Amino acid sequence: MPEKDDTFEKITTHLITSGFVYPGSEIYGGLSNSWDYGPLGVLLKNHLKDLWLRHFVREIEYNVQIDPAIIMNPKVWEATGHVANFHDPLVDCKYCHSRFRADDLVKEQCPDIDVDGLDQKALNEIVQSGRVVCPKCGKSQFTEIRQFQMMFKTFIGVTEEKSSAVYLRPETAQGIFVNFKNVLRTTRRKLPIGICDIGKAFRNEITPGNFTFRTREFEQMEIEFFFKPGEDEKWFAFYKENCRQFVERLGLRPDHVRFRNHEKEELAFYSSATTDIEYLFPSLGWGELMGIACRGDYDLKRHMEKSSQDLTYLDSETHEKYVPHVVEPSFGLDRLMLALLMDSYEVEKLEDGKDERIVMHLAYELAPYTAAVMPLSNALKEEALEVFRMIHPEFDAIFDTTGSIGKRYRREDAIGTPFCVTYDFDSKNDHMVTIRERDSMKQERVAIDNLADYLHDKMRKDRRL
Ligand code: GAP
Repeated sequence: MPEKDDTFEKITTHLITSGFVYPGSEIYGGLSNSWDYGPLGVLLKNHLKDLWLRHFVREIEYNVQIDPAIIMNPKVWEATGHVANFHDPLVDCKYCHSRFRADDLVKEQCPDIDVDGLDQKALNEIVQSGRVVCPKCGKSQFTEIRQFQMMFKTFIGVTEEKSSAVYLRPETAQGIFVNFKNVLRTTRRKLPIGICDIGKAFRNEITPGNFTFRTREFEQMEIEFFFKPGEDEKWFAFYKENCRQFVERLGLRPDHVRFRNHEKEELAFYSSATTDIEYLFPSLGWGELMGIACRGDYDLKRHMEKSSQDLTYLDSETHEKYVPHVVEPSFGLDRLMLALLMDSYEVEKLEDGKDERIVMHLAYELAPYTAAVMPLSNALKEEALEVFRMIHPEFDAIFDTTGSIGKRYRREDAIGTPFCVTYDFDSKNDHMVTIRERDSMKQERVAIDNLADYLHDKMRKDRRL
């Protein structure tokens, strides 16, 4: 038997024990596939959002950001087709009662079959034919396929009546489409315009799992970019290139990232082209981080029909009136974080050949803490604290007094802190501190007065673009 690759599990254990992620509701025994972000996770997440905002909002002159509500009028989801079609085909194993997505079973076990081209009847016939087995118990008897609505339903107001039923949004995108006219009117902009949004989305996934890769509650960073019909290829290429640059900026290993164009059969019926960016996760293989889709005028037209509102655009110079087309780059924030954490993790053998350290080679601007300030001895605590207080308003920094300096260095390496700043007995006299860099482990003396400039300079130089 080949040895099972447990790299993914090893890294997730490290992320939990070091405080990036906690199991959700842990003191009550947890809730399956629910995860909370700890202080380190939140800092990394904030830095990733900041970078996304800088790259896609500030640095693209056409783009603006909005923050629509999570609970929307349910007619939105009727218009988009989510109420009718946002289903997964569900089957249960009749022996062990494990639950699966029928299309996943067929995809994994019948590589000769094009699952995306099958309707429910054809899919059901394959599942019932004995060609697929239960991955848990190996038996081949399944219930008939049932369609499972993936939107979470809840109620507003005091009564749980049908009329008060609403959904938690399964994507942030529709909050953008319904505000298209508002944004145009209030910003007085012309096309092209990109409207961006970062926020939570909810899907009642049948098979969540692989840590934060697939959860029922996750964050998306989405852009709907509106332009004149006919310019689809141009803007699709523009965003593919921008997304490529963004991924480069994150510092992911290039040979672990690929762009995958959807085949014709895989495309949604309204999409003329879609490209996914995938990451090669340890133990799991390639997984989707984000998608860039040409959506044509599908969404605006559906909302026009259902709301009876005019969402056409009037070009004030050419007097042309049309429904804009859209390119949608849609990132999963949690997946991107997971890829970054997996990508940056290394168990490094040290020069003596015996010792090893865990080190997270995160880009400096993404690392939870930029610097850890530490007194060499507890007798120097007050002076070191002053140094910490000096840089803390400008940088995410941490003050660490426990354990030997060597242990403190290892602890910071393991959470990706680029710089350890040590206040020692000489510091009192020469007003300098020792700075030790995470990846090279090289040390240098820096004047305390220049510390902030030093860190800014290092951060700037580490930026990938
Ligand atoms: N508006 C388009 C849209 O929502 P999607 O491919 O369904 O497209 C976009 O989702 C991204 O959101 C995915 O590439 C993935 O990164 C993330 N995502 C989707 N479902 C997820 C889940 N259950 N858990 C974590 N991330 C998810």
